[in-house]
Amino acid sequence: MSKNLIKPALIRKDSVGSTNEEAFLLFEGGATAPFFVTADFQTAGRGRSGRIWDSPKGNLYLSALLENPASIDKLPQLGFVAGVALIDALVTVAQSSCFHLKWPNDVLVDGAKLAGILLETRSIRGKQAVVIGWGVNIVEFPKNLPYRAIDLPTITPTADLDPLRQQLMKSFSERLMLWDRGDNFDEIRDLWLQFALSPGMPLVIRTGETQNVEGVFETIDHDGALILKTKNGSQRILAGDVILPEAQQGAA
Ligand code: BTN
Repeated sequence: MSKNLIKPALIRKDSVGSTNEEAFLLFEGGATAPFFVTADFQTAGRGRSGRIWDSPKGNLYLSALLENPASIDKLPQLGFVAGVALIDALVTVAQSSCFHLKWPNDVLVDGAKLAGILLETRSIRGKQAVVIGWGVNIVEFPKNLPYRAIDLPTITPTADLDPLRQQLMKSFSERLMLWDRGDNFDEIRDLWLQFALSPGMPLVIRTGETQNVEGVFETIDHDGALILKTKNGSQRILAGDVILPEAQQGAA
């Protein structure tokens, strides 16, 4: 990747299984990275931890494929680059700053989930292929979830799919350049923290099927790990799902 602002191509599809999978398939087939893939809807949209991502027509599904974007230890930082870019785009298009980031990379409004990001890596054609996929609820949000969700028109009736997609691609390219292959992660981290849940907010972290860690949000460290203040002192969490306690779900 050069230090110039990249303007990746956008590949549009009507329907795919998953835009993340489609990006990997296109790269396997010889497509030149970087590029974006978008689709009107997904038939096998995927979320984090193997969950299904409901993907009706009208919501935003966008994936970016990057080739060898940084050393392997720095690749998880791209989730934060992607989160900051999505906040930039939402703030610009919705003209509102009501959006919050929940570690590792959900976007919430008043504690309800508006968007998710899925980062996946594979070794393809001898290259490290990294795909970042954004899903934003625009026309609809999934029902029957174990947490609250929201869609964009509930926040602002004028925000639309196309301008959001355009702005997200632009913001991601800009934030990628700022990140500088991980040499400038601290600046991305600072931006991320500006939109993070407030320090001191109670959180429960599910780190395994049955394992929960309780504490309050302290910060994100210089490697992107979550620092949770627990009754046994500060704990560094590298992976897991953050659950906002029920009482906090309207206050994030
Ligand atoms: C999450 O669980 O919060 C992450 C959801 C990511 C969904 C997006 S939609 C576009 C891209 N394609 C997928 O199959 N998943 C991601």
